[in-house]
Amino acid sequence: MSKEALEKAKKYTLFSFTGLTQKEYQPFFFEKADGIKVWDDQGKEYIDLGSQLVNVNIGYNNKNVIKAVQDQVEKLAYVAPKHAYEGRAELGELIIEEVAPKNAGKVLFTLGGSDANEFAIRFAKAYTGRDKIFSKYESYHGGTYGASSLTGEPDRASLFPTIPGFIKFAAPHLYGYDIKFDSEEEATKHFLNRLEYQIIQEGPEKIAALFIESVPGSNGVYVYPKGYLKGVREITKKYGILLVADEVMAGFLRSGDWFAIEREGIEPDIITFAKGVNSSYAPLGGVIISKEIADYYDNNPFTAGLTYNAHPVGIAAAIANIKEYKRLNIKEHVLELEPYLKGKLAELKEKHISVGDVRSIGLFGAIEFSYSKQTRDYVEKTLDGKPFLNTFITKIREEEGLLTLGGGSHIIVAPPLIITKEEIDEIFVRLDRAINYVDEIVKAGKK
Ligand SMILES: Cc1ncc(COP(=O)(O)O)c(C=O)c1O
Repeated sequence: MSKEALEKAKKYTLFSFTGLTQKEYQPFFFEKADGIKVWDDQGKEYIDLGSQLVNVNIGYNNKNVIKAVQDQVEKLAYVAPKHAYEGRAELGELIIEEVAPKNAGKVLFTLGGSDANEFAIRFAKAYTGRDKIFSKYESYHGGTYGASSLTGEPDRASLFPTIPGFIKFAAPHLYGYDIKFDSEEEATKHFLNRLEYQIIQEGPEKIAALFIESVPGSNGVYVYPKGYLKGVREITKKYGILLVADEVMAGFLRSGDWFAIEREGIEPDIITFAKGVNSSYAPLGGVIISKEIADYYDNNPFTAGLTYNAHPVGIAAAIANIKEYKRLNIKEHVLELEPYLKGKLAELKEKHISVGDVRSIGLFGAIEFSYSKQTRDYVEKTLDGKPFLNTFITKIREEEGLLTLGGGSHIIVAPPLIITKEEIDEIFVRLDRAINYVDEIVKAGKK
């Protein structure tokens, strides 16, 4: 039966995010899931090491979130964006009063991260009256036109000409950078100088906003050097440029606070979020705007919208999900496990020749495979010449029962936030075993 369903899914539907042709792509068949685990149609069990797309933060089959969704569908399944209803009021208050930084004024609910970023672009341009938008190389902000224009990845940029006026600045990555710094502070200074130079050259008075992932996720969890985000906040303030923190992946406790940027004590002008807001029990994203931008819309009409803005089902799931985060003390749990995960990642790097770098914050980590521990010399091919990353991700799924995602030459370590220490230990036993395979590739040297 599942074989038939898999064939039909391939025949009639287009799979996204595969990096392969539809012919080559062989989807994994999902049967059911519970907690941090997933089962395929053969009854084989897997640990979800990536929370799918770093979004199922509360884990699968959470009864309270499910009940909230069921109750909402029965009570009122849909309300048009211009009407008010209870859930919208409750989640709005929860986000502005309890979750967001103090300067937050209002929230617009969207369907996901890409459209949240689309609206953030609109808000920034309308509020400032300026046109240009800055964002970083090695960033991901979504798959719609504006969000793809924000995204700083070579693949996406080559798909089509991006929107004019979208400017990219250098990622402040220490691993693999050709200048070696004595300290993180020195690196921060260097990258901030480069950024300010570029802003001046582009004409600060023309720049509406600077978008930045508070922790760049799909490009490999590159946590910024000390003081970098604070410096970006200062530069943007100096030139009247809005700072937009993309918290779609890093937010909602994944990085140890409601928003990763709050760990640095920074208040951005706009925050975009999705994924972990309701652990994806239904589609939902959002844009939080500062009090000043909210005031602007108190005095200027807001004409755009989407049929599914503030959809009651996504909102009901978010209210229940946030309540679950609180009931289960997920923030404290993530902060407690943060050093443990860091330690486990560091052990892997120490032990394995192929682990070039490891990075993490909260329960959000990456393992990067490289021929070198100093430079980004990616492992790209297996010993028999197959693309490395896809092969390795399939291998750890089939042989070690670990389901995850990755990009370039890294895999993501971001399990559901309800994971225990013992389960982390089990994951690392399996990773340790699997990485011997990559060591063999690196020992054989580049072909
Ligand atoms: C940082 C970031 N921004 C935006 C998006 C796009 O979100 P969505 O896929 O929900 O549109 C993603 C998705 O992975 C993301 O990681």
